[in-house]
Amino acid sequence: MALSRRTFSALTGSTALGLALGGSGGPGAPSAYAARSVPTGPAPAPPSADGCRHTIGYDRYSLLVDGRRLVLWSGEMHPFRLPSPSLWRDVLQKMRAHGYNAVSIYVAWNYHSPAPGSYDFTGVRDLDLFLRTAAETGLYVVLRPGPYINAEVDGGGFPGWLSATRGTARTDDPTYLSHVDEWLTQVNRIVRRHLFTQGTGTVLLYQIENEYDAHPADATGRAYMSHLYKKVRSDGIDVPLFHNDKGRNGYWVPGSFDTGGEKGGWLYGFDGYPSPAQTPPDWGDYGPGGPKGGAGASPSTPGFVPEFGGGWFDPWGGAFFDGKGYAEARRTRDAAYERRFYLTNLANGLTLHNVYMTFGGTSWGWLPAPVVYTSYDYGAAIDEARNVTDKMAPMHHLGHLLQRVPDFAKLDRAADVHAEGLKVYHLTNPDTGAHVYVARNDGTDAVTTELPTDAGRVRITVPGKDARLLTTGLKLGRRTLKYSTAEPMLCLTAGRQDIALFSGRLGDMAELVLKCPVEPNVMRLDPEAAWVFDNDDNLHVNVPLGEGGLTRVLVEKGETETPLVLLFADDATAVRMFPYDTPSGTLLVYGPALLRHAELRGSEVHLTGDITETTTIEVWGPRGIDTLVWNGRTLPTRVTLSGSLMTTGLVPAAPEVRLPELGGWRMRRENPEAGPGFDDSDWTVADKRTTFSTTPVPEGRPVLFADDYGFHYGDVWYRGTFTGSTGLEEVSLAYSTGTQGLLMAWLDGEPLGAHRMPVPDRDTTIRKGSWADTAVFPVREQLRSPGRHVLSVLVRRMQRDQDGKGLDTHKAARGLTAAAFKGASPQVRWRIQGAIAPDPVRGPMNNGGLYGERQGWHLPGFRDHDWEPVSFPRTARYQGVTWYRTSFRLSVPADVDASIGLTLEDDPYRAYRAQIFLNGWNMGQYINNVGPQHTFVLPNGVLRTRGTNTLALAVLSEFTTLSGPGRVSLTLLGRASGGLPVTPV
Ligand code: GAL
Repeated sequence: MALSRRTFSALTGSTALGLALGGSGGPGAPSAYAARSVPTGPAPAPPSADGCRHTIGYDRYSLLVDGRRLVLWSGEMHPFRLPSPSLWRDVLQKMRAHGYNAVSIYVAWNYHSPAPGSYDFTGVRDLDLFLRTAAETGLYVVLRPGPYINAEVDGGGFPGWLSATRGTARTDDPTYLSHVDEWLTQVNRIVRRHLFTQGTGTVLLYQIENEYDAHPADATGRAYMSHLYKKVRSDGIDVPLFHNDKGRNGYWVPGSFDTGGEKGGWLYGFDGYPSPAQTPPDWGDYGPGGPKGGAGASPSTPGFVPEFGGGWFDPWGGAFFDGKGYAEARRTRDAAYERRFYLTNLANGLTLHNVYMTFGGTSWGWLPAPVVYTSYDYGAAIDEARNVTDKMAPMHHLGHLLQRVPDFAKLDRAADVHAEGLKVYHLTNPDTGAHVYVARNDGTDAVTTELPTDAGRVRITVPGKDARLLTTGLKLGRRTLKYSTAEPMLCLTAGRQDIALFSGRLGDMAELVLKCPVEPNVMRLDPEAAWVFDNDDNLHVNVPLGEGGLTRVLVEKGETETPLVLLFADDATAVRMFPYDTPSGTLLVYGPALLRHAELRGSEVHLTGDITETTTIEVWGPRGIDTLVWNGRTLPTRVTLSGSLMTTGLVPAAPEVRLPELGGWRMRRENPEAGPGFDDSDWTVADKRTTFSTTPVPEGRPVLFADDYGFHYGDVWYRGTFTGSTGLEEVSLAYSTGTQGLLMAWLDGEPLGAHRMPVPDRDTTIRKGSWADTAVFPVREQLRSPGRHVLSVLVRRMQRDQDGKGLDTHKAARGLTAAAFKGASPQVRWRIQGAIAPDPVRGPMNNGGLYGERQGWHLPGFRDHDWEPVSFPRTARYQGVTWYRTSFRLSVPADVDASIGLTLEDDPYRAYRAQIFLNGWNMGQYINNVGPQHTFVLPNGVLRTRGTNTLALAVLSEFTTLSGPGRVSLTLLGRASGGLPVTPV
């Protein structure tokens, strides 16, 4: 793929910029889109690996795909936070069905690279499979492989081994760049097989770096960005590139660094996580412009938010962080938040919109950055257990609207409009003449007022902290809307009729006025609707949006022979309306919880999807459809007056799913490393004198930092052997772990005590990224005898800090940093042991260096028959590590998708923590006395829903309190009839 063949065409003013390689005109033929002014027209068909070359251009309004306007309505998910590739398809299908046309993913360098030069894209790390699945699902991909990603993952995505290398990360340091190039080469080798431009996949946009504000205006930063740009291009990536600017500083706008003479291949993007308490910001056409103004910093490129908060991450619990659990994130950033903020974004002309997160998933194993716990649910529209939540309603509504109503792809700011108690945005499409009004209520009480529109004064009600979209002059197929107080969601043609769907809040009175130059025949097909034809040739339709589901009104004859079906739905009903394009025509399906796939075979409509509650299924589609096949079963149907095919009976709700009680536990104590006689001769001697860590090495003493000895993830053991300790009074152990770290020490097998990372001083310790402290243990007289002694120390690390500010904070030491003695000055010879070779299936971040992990006690095949039987709740007081194992059988019917979690509960005073292993997979860390997480999602694929599972808990107990486990049980988190076949991982 030669760079010289790439065609960029840069045109000036409001014209389109295009980017493509080769193109349909044959090799070398310029194919970049070059129209002078792009009219409003239908959006491009959903993308696939269709074998055709495509162009990706843009103007100031929107992206232009093959010359057609595309509003990008994208949701973020991270394949690395869902370690079961079959479930990627489940989440992607949910996104596509609910109105997204793109998925944005980070690719985490550390997840794929256990060591320099070693890269793994197999199994749960199969990026190629993810990109194929996204293309098969019909979603564009926004690819964000770093090298730095942040994302609340260990080291912000930097591999552990990078923390032990020379040179400053996120600069143009040659050593760092050589590692970066190695990573990008590996990623791009896969990505270039999936480029939308080439017709081999759906990768549409590609991000280099993330929130890079460390060197925005100096030579270092420019050289670094330029290097990344050129490297990605030279790897054959020919889609537009971009960066995600934190704080809308106007950093890295087009022209701010050297792109090797290429123009038009770079977009400006910025992110935003406004507090739900604040007034939604104007980061585009209504904003101040320039830096800080968001899109205004780059007037020639379309408004682009690569990340806009759709929830927020939750920190650990306890007094310092006070994490409250993700129900709180979902409550504060609820559906109304989404409408208020995202409609404001659209009003500001932000037509590339990615919601971070749309499915948060799980930071399993040692993936989480110190700031977060295992669940990365994020309060997102799709929860960690893959359930679609109430937050989907606005996403679904806006997503389908932007794809099915082209007027929204090109909006200009229009004359200011004022309405009492509301903030109003007024926009118009210069080509179609449609007007759009976003009326936002920033107060807490509902406002009812008259909105002066171009179609006259319209009385609307906007609930507190919510927003409403109102349109006038929209084309509804062959007819024209005068105005509607319900929000348009989609308009399509199915068979011989036009269908327009309007939605609103439950309890709203929808008022719709249709221009009808010739009086039509009107039939209300559901009793709720009322209509009247006035003297000014307007048809007025009024519908209360109740709980009864869909309301249908048929408009026939009049100005056109094509009937128009008007549909009205409250939010809960609207999320069960699914448009779907097939090669033989468009379908609209109403009823199921999810439509995964639709296909027409002659007169048969074959649908697959999920059912949660009892429902009918109704389908509008091409003429002549007469048979409905749902998940392989033909359902009896009738043809309705609205031209749909509808099941005559009800499709039953998902069946009950019974989960077994967990019992039959067996236990085994470990930490033989504490004993003086333990053979550590194969452990690594810790005697280095220099390090690349940012943590200073104490004068004259050895480097004890675990990363310097190749131990990058999880627990690490130290054994220090010494003589000459007569008079020893005290041992001080300095250590550095990240939040919630823990240290336990033994002298000659006798517990000295445990030390937990205390609440740090927010201003100093956190900023330095160290989370370091010193544990001081007095030494009892019996242990001061002459002769050889062994000091054993277990350090639970909580991973590396992110490097958000580009200060190499990921290089702060992890593990012991220094040992000091009072009353004696013994010479200590240290040995260190962490995780053994990375698990070839589960990856390098699955395990740390606990004895049980090194012996495979977490693995399903391990024989524990001679372990001691035990039952929960358990209470014991001791210091150290104990393992508990059991197995359980599940027999969930094959056509039921059950989402299951493991719940641990106990008296929160008890200071212990458990690492949870399901079939050998490290599903996260439970800290009983910190919280807030009690339920851990067990993803199907890792979990055998039809078969036997092995559960192992590695419990670290402090001596200060009694230790559990208390209650341990399986919890049903979601169920649906349908689902997808899941391949065991
Ligand atoms: C953004 C960052 C993301 C993630 C997010 C918070 O600023 O780009 O990677 O860290 O904040 O969840």
